[in-house]
Amino acid sequence: MCGIVGYVGGQSALDVVVAGLKRLEYRGYDSAGVAVLADGGLAAAKKAGKLVNLEKELVGRPLPAGATGIGHTRWATHGGPTDTNAHPHLDNAGRVAVVHNGIIENFAELRAELAERGHELVSETDTEVVAHLLAESFSSCGDLAESMRLVCRRLDGAFTLVAVHADEPDVVVGARRNSPLVVGLGEGEAFLASDVAAFIAYTRSAIELGQDQVVELRRDAEGGGAAGVSVAVTDFHGAPGEARSYHIDWDSSAAEKGGYDYFMLKEIAEQPKAVADTLLGRIDPAGSLTLDEVRIPDSVLREIDKIVVIACGTAFHAGMIAKLAIEHWTRIPCETELASEFRYRDPILDARTLVIAISQSGETMDTLMALRHAREQGAKVLAVCNTNGSTIPRESDAVLYTHAGPEVAVASTKAFLTQLIACYLVALYLAQVRGSKWGDEVRDVVRELSAVADRVERVLETMEPVRELARSLADKNTVLFLGRHVGYPVALEGALKLKELAYMHAEGFAAGELKHGPIALIEKDLPVVVVVPSPRGRSVLHDKIVSNIQEIRARGARTIVIAEEGDEAVVPYADHLIRIPATPTLLQPLVSTVPLQVFACELATARGNEVDQPRNLAKSVTVE
Ligand code: M6R
Repeated sequence: MCGIVGYVGGQSALDVVVAGLKRLEYRGYDSAGVAVLADGGLAAAKKAGKLVNLEKELVGRPLPAGATGIGHTRWATHGGPTDTNAHPHLDNAGRVAVVHNGIIENFAELRAELAERGHELVSETDTEVVAHLLAESFSSCGDLAESMRLVCRRLDGAFTLVAVHADEPDVVVGARRNSPLVVGLGEGEAFLASDVAAFIAYTRSAIELGQDQVVELRRDAEGGGAAGVSVAVTDFHGAPGEARSYHIDWDSSAAEKGGYDYFMLKEIAEQPKAVADTLLGRIDPAGSLTLDEVRIPDSVLREIDKIVVIACGTAFHAGMIAKLAIEHWTRIPCETELASEFRYRDPILDARTLVIAISQSGETMDTLMALRHAREQGAKVLAVCNTNGSTIPRESDAVLYTHAGPEVAVASTKAFLTQLIACYLVALYLAQVRGSKWGDEVRDVVRELSAVADRVERVLETMEPVRELARSLADKNTVLFLGRHVGYPVALEGALKLKELAYMHAEGFAAGELKHGPIALIEKDLPVVVVVPSPRGRSVLHDKIVSNIQEIRARGARTIVIAEEGDEAVVPYADHLIRIPATPTLLQPLVSTVPLQVFACELATARGNEVDQPRNLAKSVTVE
């Protein structure tokens, strides 16, 4: 939801900012804009549409060279994706420029107030009020950081703000509440960004800003922090603030396409490594689990009598699978709930409830608000997250990081598989601590988990027929997905991938529900993907779905069957058969999801869609 970059240093600010925006375009791509301080003034350019439109504009109408600048790539909330609504927003004198991620809830009253004082606001955005308020404050105090503090105290809602003022040409100021902002420290330069990907090409040294903090980057040979640039962090009232420094443990190649046409293709291919990395260091030589980061004491975990998993989108599907593993292995009742619904239904939570919040980005506002609600009720919160230092793990009691590396494509792939691994680890750890599984039983599952990376690799090696099939279905309007037990969330995930990438009507159903209504949708040649559980698991589950395949085929469906190697029972009823390696029932989603990712990616490509940046979406959803 909007990417923000700020820079002060010795390089061309415009080049650094535009390069940073390219890395953040996954966060929003409705419009983009930049502002640089040069020659005693401020110059800005902004354009509706993708960053490439802004780049063309900058070729035709270059900005003066300057060493301080800010930039923004937008996912529209208030006001459509037009040139005028694009960020940065300026005050009437054109001396202040501000970029924003989030929603300022009281913007209407602030706007009315400004209008009364004679300000002319030209956009439909909530952000523009900030530029005008900053200009007013600056005219009385002459200090941009202090102006930012004064203005932040007047704002309600969620915001990351980054601003520059022509009268302070060596300063960039940022502020954050409920929305991400990190500082990058280079040699004689410093960066502000929504995500470290924006500056990873220049430095791997970062500072994580806390909630309700303002940061000032000032080019100043006397300063501390990076040589020649001082970094000062305060709260909204000016009291010095604490901020954690950390080293970014991946390099810029991880955020590049590396020869693939799309990030999504690269991220699908990275799954074996991501799975292996997420297991790394979490299993001791004897095969038991050592989850050192789970700082909730074992004594507390032994008292847990209820687990609630909260998440959105793909992470929610991982949570649905987590529920089945948790209940089976620990016998603790577990619910999985959409984070966006959770706090509105008055959930029953107490100190013996463990809430597991799953989020790739660690910034999803629905999940953040749900976890805050859970903590207010006294529940313990464990985050499963892929983004070091993001808000969700910081506000949780404990975190288990997935080690997927940066996921840039909007459609989640490797994050999903690693979320599953992390959830299986949590479930097994609980079983180990509470003694609901014997040590050898835990080790058996761990051995199977350790074999998954190779199995995913094998699936990836056999995907050409899936790609061919996807291309042959490019003109279809509807695809249905069926599954049972863990196959049901996989069916939902397959449908979600197809919706978001191919813009097709795609729906996932629990196979048993079909006869209660959705079977009426089946018509001649309708593609239906069926995820078949292992025949070596519960045979009744397998037999039932084989019957379901026959029922839909009898009504004309074109069946696309995903089944384990050696499962011969499905062969007579499969118009297309996709084989996956034999994997225990509960772990099967780790292999059965992969063909669905490839299928959706190829179908979207065949339909000419933008795979990495599907329409209307953004990678990180920082508004409710
Ligand atoms: O960053 P999060 O895991 O919290 O994001 C949750 C969803 O927005 C995300 O999984 C979304 O559904 C994906 N784009 C689906 O591919």
